[in-house]
Amino acid sequence: MEKPKAIVVLTGAGISAESGIKTFRASDGLWENHPVEEVATPEGFERNPQLVYEFYNQRRQHLLTKDVKPNAAHTALAKFEHEFSGSFLLVTQNIDNLHERAGSNNPLHMHGELLKMRCLNSQMVFDIRENFDYDTKCQCCRSPGNLRPNVVWFGEMPFHMHQINNALEACDLFVAIGTSGNVYPASGFSQTARNRRAHTVELNLEATGSSFDSHLYGAATKVIPNYFKQILDS
Ligand code: APR
Repeated sequence: MEKPKAIVVLTGAGISAESGIKTFRASDGLWENHPVEEVATPEGFERNPQLVYEFYNQRRQHLLTKDVKPNAAHTALAKFEHEFSGSFLLVTQNIDNLHERAGSNNPLHMHGELLKMRCLNSQMVFDIRENFDYDTKCQCCRSPGNLRPNVVWFGEMPFHMHQINNALEACDLFVAIGTSGNVYPASGFSQTARNRRAHTVELNLEATGSSFDSHLYGAATKVIPNYFKQILDS
């Protein structure tokens, strides 16, 4: 393979599966007991805020347990970013912090972050590790009822889209890792990159039916370290 000069990597739930965080669409997936409309839409939050607060509180507490840690795929991506001399952008759909904990610099969390909450009045974003809910007083306006998880729900605009689109249009390699390609706009990134003649690669446990120039199947912890080492060695 000719050495790429500008790479965009998109990760999804599959990269964190071997760290013990369930994917969304597996048969034992996160949403099974909670239809997506209940816990991941603005309407669901309006209907039953307490359920939504509890849902994300549980996810946050799980993320912070000592058993959940970055795996070899997260670590390989961080190492690659430090050793690669070209341009590199890591975009993740995941709301966990495993890329950062593995050493990645400033991954773009297009669907937000579990360890952040946002004031609905001021739009200010705060770090949060504890549980919070309707009764929690906001740090800026000092009122309860103003805080929500800083995650992007269905029907809302993902974060950082301008920066992501610019990078997609300038890259010569786009790699999607562990994502089913079911959720727009991330599902359209490979086409945007392809339109600019980038080579597009899918690294996933199994075929997703999405259109890429090449596919490599296997568990992320096995496939990712080898794939990115090959690029460095090329
Ligand atoms: N290694 C590689 N891929 C894996 C592994 C693994 N160990 N385990 C699972 N996968 C693959 C699955 O085969 C599947 O194709 O990861 C993919 C996970 O897909 P989804 O569960 O649909 O997750 P994702 O694509 O990240 O979902 C996108 O949907 O609900 C929303 O906002 C949420 O960010 C999320 C978005």
